[in-house]
Amino acid sequence: MRTHLCGRVAESDIDQTIVLNGWVLSRRDHGGVIFIDLRDRSGCVQVVADPDFPEPFAVAEDARNEFVLEVTGRVRRRPEGTDNPDLSTGTVEVLADSIRVLATSEALPFQVDDEEISESVRLKYRFLDLRRATMQGNIRLRHRIVSELRRFLNERDFVDIETPMLTRSTPEGARDYLVPSRTHPGEFFALPQSPQLFKQLLMVAGFERYYQVARCFRDEDLRADRQPEFTQLDVEVSFMDEDGIITLMETMIRELFRVVLAVELTDPVPRMSYREAVSRYGIDRPDLRVDMELTEITDLMGDVEFKVFSGPARDPDGRVAAMRVPGGGSLSRARIDEYTEFVGQYGAKGLAYIRVEDTDTGRDGLKSPILKFLPDEALTEIMARCGAASGDVIFFGADKARIVNDALGALRLRIGRDLGMVQPGWKPLWVVDFPLVEWNPEAKRWDSLHHPFTAPREADEHLLDSDPGKALSRAYDLVLNGTELGGGSIRIHRSDLQQKVLGVLGIDAEEARRKFGFLLDGLRYGAPPHGGIAFGIDRLVAMMSGEDSIRDVIAFPKTQKASCLLTEAPGEVDARQLRELALQVRKPRDG
Ligand code: AMO
Ligand code: AMP
Repeated sequence: MRTHLCGRVAESDIDQTIVLNGWVLSRRDHGGVIFIDLRDRSGCVQVVADPDFPEPFAVAEDARNEFVLEVTGRVRRRPEGTDNPDLSTGTVEVLADSIRVLATSEALPFQVDDEEISESVRLKYRFLDLRRATMQGNIRLRHRIVSELRRFLNERDFVDIETPMLTRSTPEGARDYLVPSRTHPGEFFALPQSPQLFKQLLMVAGFERYYQVARCFRDEDLRADRQPEFTQLDVEVSFMDEDGIITLMETMIRELFRVVLAVELTDPVPRMSYREAVSRYGIDRPDLRVDMELTEITDLMGDVEFKVFSGPARDPDGRVAAMRVPGGGSLSRARIDEYTEFVGQYGAKGLAYIRVEDTDTGRDGLKSPILKFLPDEALTEIMARCGAASGDVIFFGADKARIVNDALGALRLRIGRDLGMVQPGWKPLWVVDFPLVEWNPEAKRWDSLHHPFTAPREADEHLLDSDPGKALSRAYDLVLNGTELGGGSIRIHRSDLQQKVLGVLGIDAEEARRKFGFLLDGLRYGAPPHGGIAFGIDRLVAMMSGEDSIRDVIAFPKTQKASCLLTEAPGEVDARQLRELALQVRKPRDG
């Protein structure tokens, strides 16, 4: 069939007769001469059908967009003034000797090169959507990224091992997807939320270095960076501490960016404690591209007249924080009202602010409805801590710490975008020293911050009995530009300690046996010290390709409602299938 790829036809091929295979990207009838842009995986080239050659001309006249053709023709230089500098093949064209139609195409539901199509149409006709140059680029980039990650790990003695899809529930905190068993009526498999327990058992089994490009399934509320099934680069190693794992993984990601994007990430990637991240940015995955921080003023507000501030300042769970917006004086009243509404979504009851008009004239240089409630010393100290300058605005949050952090953390990013304060480039960060557990006030119990198999710091083991909330874990997250790319930890490798941590989480011995007795068994037979990490491949590829949604880097993704518009899954099944599975479906009542 073909002798050349469309996108690679070059001036060095001039006067040669070549054979091309590809799709009609566009067809233009220029009164007499017909131009066809022929596309294949490599790109496209212009084919000319001249009426002097009646056979190929007749075929070209009937060809339509997305027909599949075989073109035989002679390469020639394009006439003076008709070069297309946007095309790699823009100085040449192929004069057709013969054109054969390999497949016709019905009229398309949308133009393949149209960038403005609705996502539901794109997903329904994904096989056409994937023909677009950007999607071709994204999926190919994904392949390069995964190949590079595999190469890095293969060279270091890691073994790629598959783990089951039909398994038991793994506690990563989301709802399970369940699969009914025909052979065990009334029983169910769960699809894995991650290979966590299996990879730990592979360490017990002595593989020492495991990885897998693993599909994970989580039935959770979906967002732009979440899919019900997604892909992790899942890694586990024995006999390595957190420094070793962090360094190894950082080297891998740095090489990836160098090879694929020619970008040098900072070396070493900075590390920040969970506590510092939350205190300075309100969130455990700070976007360091925005140069704006929260300033602690809780200690200054205990005695002020303003109850809105003094109340939370005296509450042990409360926080009062300021956030200085450089040049924020330009924000209109309407814009500040908009921001007040915005922080309301995070539970904030208001958004106090001070406009800093002139830093040299003390109180007179400040404008704010709350000035009258704040003494001079407090004002001076706030200005100093924030590093306020004339022309700034300072916003305040006062409430339970969690609300202040959520509200100001989100406002920080919103203002960063609105005022063009997001610096270009890449800001990676390791977040470390996470608490082992956090109090869940609704369920009235301690929950793991990562998962129940994460080890506490050795020095903090004694706190498990007395004050579990104070114990720090040996977990680490890699954050890039405000996105959590990956997370992992050193694991518990002693069965007594594992039992104890499960106890703190309110999982008693009987429940533990039932849910992951096989892991506890494994830990009793010579489990090596081990740890690992998992990276979200979809998120990594989306960031590296500059896409906002991970759906644009997954060949066949699901919608926000967790359905597939292409296959129309999920769908109903035959009554016979239900009978075989010993299942009965109760239809949700209408309305
Ligand atoms: P974790 O639950 O943090 O850790 O997941 C690891 C990474 O997977 C990505 N991710 C997702 N990507 C797309 N859609 C989702 N619904 C989704 N959920 C998570 C994120 C995240 O950082 N077993 C542990 C890892 C370990 O301890 O080794 C785990 O799964 O980028
Ligand atoms: P008020 O006294 O309720 O009218 O509030 C005075 C100012 O404080 C207004 O600008 C409110 O938006 C702001 N405010 C009220 N509650 C809070 C809060 N919890 N945190 C920050 N600012 C608040």
